[in-house]
Amino acid sequence: MKKISIFVLLVLIGMQFVPMDVPAEVPTKADDVLKAPEEVHAILKRACFDCHSNHTDFPWYSSIAPVSWFTKMHVKEGREHMNFSIWASYDDEKKLKYLEKIPKAIKSKMPLPSYLIMHKEAKLSDDDKKLLTEWASEAAFDLE
Ligand code: HEC
Repeated sequence: MKKISIFVLLVLIGMQFVPMDVPAEVPTKADDVLKAPEEVHAILKRACFDCHSNHTDFPWYSSIAPVSWFTKMHVKEGREHMNFSIWASYDDEKKLKYLEKIPKAIKSKMPLPSYLIMHKEAKLSDDDKKLLTEWASEAAFDLE
């Protein structure tokens, strides 16, 4: 039993040295940032920016492996999929694709359920969802 505990402990310690470099802040051009109405921006900031922007507020436990691996993977993937900090640099086709996906995403899986466990403030109310959905369809309409 003791040997097993020591082994587990060593593995856990070893895991801390596996590099997973996802910076909390990525240099951002002011011109590229999404411009949305204030109340929409506030919801996105509260519920989405940690994974879909260049500014991530990593909590303390996200520097401890293996939690850090999942957290950083989510941020890395989230930014790659859709990044509101480089929104204006996307072409219309890409913007349209995202604007169409946002209402579906917030109905089913966004913000990620694993994120909501520790970020209760990010949970979207029905009103939040309605506002985001209306904004997304209006913004899409303006592009078409
Ligand atoms: C904990 C990190 C995290 C948070 C918070 C989060 N997302 Fe995501 N999001 C991801 C990841 C990872 C993916 C890519 C994998 C997937 O689609 O499941 C993704 C994918 C998406 C996609 C699909 C993009 C594509 O290219 O298909 C949309 C749309 C989206 N998210 C919207 C949102 C919105 C809107 C919010 C806030 C209400 C949000 N997400 C919050 C991590 C996150």
